[in-house]
Amino acid sequence: MKVHLTRRYLFSASHRLHCDGLSEPENQATYGKCNNPHGHGHNYALEVTVSGQVDPATGMICNLSDLDRSVQSEVLERFDHENLNYRSEFDGLVPTTENLSEVIFNILKQSFTAAHLEKVRLEETMMNSFEYAGGAELRV
Ligand code: NI
Repeated sequence: MKVHLTRRYLFSASHRLHCDGLSEPENQATYGKCNNPHGHGHNYALEVTVSGQVDPATGMICNLSDLDRSVQSEVLERFDHENLNYRSEFDGLVPTTENLSEVIFNILKQSFTAAHLEKVRLEETMMNSFEYAGGAELRV
């Protein structure tokens, strides 16, 4: 019996959307207010979905505390209250929430192995969210 488990985590980070390969006017036209040189912050909600067979002995697909430990040490401690533009994970990569979703998925794919990582879903605001389920080359 395969079951999906989704767990939700909260963290805050700032970013400025800016592409070094574009001119200032092009950046402003592309990213609008999100190109403001001083950046801005988001309270992100991260949903991590894993799947696996239910262990008949425990009745669980994995231990939530193991998932919490991986997300805490590998994702939240890395990005919470950070400026994403200054993180090495975003060297040469615009810290959009699309890219942040992919970075987080690839980090967890390597660090959490107790169950199959299905996808991450990242809410940037109440109005938009992004999902990534793998498929691109690893960037971490
Ligand atoms: Ni933003």
